[in-house]
Amino acid sequence: MAAQGVFISFEGIDGSGKSTQARLLADHLRAAGRQVVATREPGGAPGAEEIRRLLLEGAPDRWSAETEILLFTAARRDHLERTIAPALAAGRIVVSDRFVDSTRVYQGITRGDLRDKVDALHSLMIGREADLTFIIDMDPGLGLSRARGRNGHEERFEDFGEPMQRQMRDGFLALAREFPDRCVVIDGNRAMDAVAAEVAQITDRHLR
Ligand code: TMP
Repeated sequence: MAAQGVFISFEGIDGSGKSTQARLLADHLRAAGRQVVATREPGGAPGAEEIRRLLLEGAPDRWSAETEILLFTAARRDHLERTIAPALAAGRIVVSDRFVDSTRVYQGITRGDLRDKVDALHSLMIGREADLTFIIDMDPGLGLSRARGRNGHEERFEDFGEPMQRQMRDGFLALAREFPDRCVVIDGNRAMDAVAAEVAQITDRHLR
């Protein structure tokens, strides 16, 4: 039978520090001699990165939430086929900065209740969850000011503002309660190193 790797995802609101934590976990695992593929969504494969640009640049009302569900899922399918599935089949550890939980929250609850559509498309086209998901929990106001401080051009979702940021934080916490077997909530309102140490400890326990 083919070797099977481990799939770890990081989730949280914009500015939660999850991208930094995903990178630090990849570094930690590599230092321990593990083979790691660090990746992100939307993106993580050349075609999916092209879809990323369509999704993250432009005016907030550029796409409806329904169209976004289709585009994020299309990007995810490409990411799964080209990057995630081959890495897992080769026995590697995949560390992804976001996966389907982001769609469940950003597209599933923030502009009407579309969660059923997200889940239906996910089971039809993706059919896989992460083995372990870290939800980096962060004060919504602080997260938003950190995200805006970056001054990038991928700001479509940041333009939605603080009330929505608050709704998304609650959405991620609700997902953690819904999927307790794979989700761990981490307090992100602490020093980066303290957060990284907790994430590393939980991952090491999971891998044993
Ligand atoms: P990032 O800032 O973590 O790179 O994520 C890009 C943005 O895309 C972020 O604002 C969240 C959003 N997003 C969704 O709305 N739905 C999704 O399924 C994913 C993966 C990201």
